[in-house]
Amino acid sequence: MILQASAPESIADCVATVRAGGLIGLPTETVYGLGADAGNDAAVAKIFAAKGRPADHPLIVHVSAQGGGIPAVKHFADRVPPFAQQLMSAFWPGALTLILPRRPGVGTAAAGGQDSIGLRCPDHPAAQAVLRALHEAPAGQEPVWGIAAPSANRFGRVSPTTAAHVDSELGPDLPILDGGPCNLGIESTIIDCTRGSPVLLRPGSISRLQIEQACGQKVLSNEELLTQATRGLEAEMAPRASGTLESHYAPNATVRLMDAKALQAAVNMLGDVMYKSGADTKPTIAVYARTPLKTVPLAILLRRMPDDAAATAHQLFAALRGFDDSGVKLIWIETPPDTLEWEGVRDRLQRASA
Ligand code: TXA
Ligand code: MG
Repeated sequence: MILQASAPESIADCVATVRAGGLIGLPTETVYGLGADAGNDAAVAKIFAAKGRPADHPLIVHVSAQGGGIPAVKHFADRVPPFAQQLMSAFWPGALTLILPRRPGVGTAAAGGQDSIGLRCPDHPAAQAVLRALHEAPAGQEPVWGIAAPSANRFGRVSPTTAAHVDSELGPDLPILDGGPCNLGIESTIIDCTRGSPVLLRPGSISRLQIEQACGQKVLSNEELLTQATRGLEAEMAPRASGTLESHYAPNATVRLMDAKALQAAVNMLGDVMYKSGADTKPTIAVYARTPLKTVPLAILLRRMPDDAAATAHQLFAALRGFDDSGVKLIWIETPPDTLEWEGVRDRLQRASA
């Protein structure tokens, strides 16, 4: 059931559903979320059931921008290190999730049993309208401090960037607030703030360079930390993050990443086969590339990848879904450039091809 976010009664409906312990489809600037009251463990259990996601995978809790997000953070988090505070003031509301030590007894199911909690203040007017109304509880009612929301797709599949994507996987009974196509298109950057210095758990549109500039500390990667752990410098192992499972974000078709030269060679070979056999003309392979192809055999469905990382992120998941819908069996993708601004897109494509 798709509800127009511009209509005040849609917002009110979603607020009432969350208060009653139900699920909603929530637009954000990154991807659509499948949301429930983060303080209601039974409601959160419905998210895991609907997604088919293991219950020990922690969810991100979305908070209202009131007071810069600080009242809600104080509700869920035990302690906020100074560098995390700097990141909140630099990037919230925005596509940055902070993992913080959890206040015992709060958001237990949302945290998947971890002693930490992932918090993010989304930069989308419809999400904020819902969060604000939940936060400002009517007289006599407790505030709802946050909405636990993973991406609104079945476990392991491509994240949704439109209300129609959500409806196709989790509809038709789910109320989905339609706030238009997501501006950014890939999930938030996740920084673990529980280990003394910032650790990048998932790259996103906010780059590690931006994080370092905002807090004045070097951002470690999980791999670096694991190397340190084997040297005995850091005892704690990385927390589970389902976004770090290799086979995440996979379309139905098989994805292969190739550089421009290998891609052209593969296409050439295919052309030979096609012309010799005179096979049928329905495309069976999609190509998503920045570098123009010299020849495009009939077997190929070609879509140009933008030259710009942000523009590619914006259309990436919809493009993968579109390829699946067209019935191709293979998706050949030109490897994105090895630069910082492409890190988020590169990460999603590597997982899609794993
Ligand atoms: O952009 C986004 O972050 C989207 C939108 C809806 O906000 N949400 C999203 O949620 O991507 P999800 O559940 O698909 O990804 C959550 C990621 C997972 O990799 C999860 O393991 C990690 O965040 N995470 C959440 N809480 C955590 C915690 N306490 N400790 C470690 N990782 C955590
Ligand atoms: Mg997800």
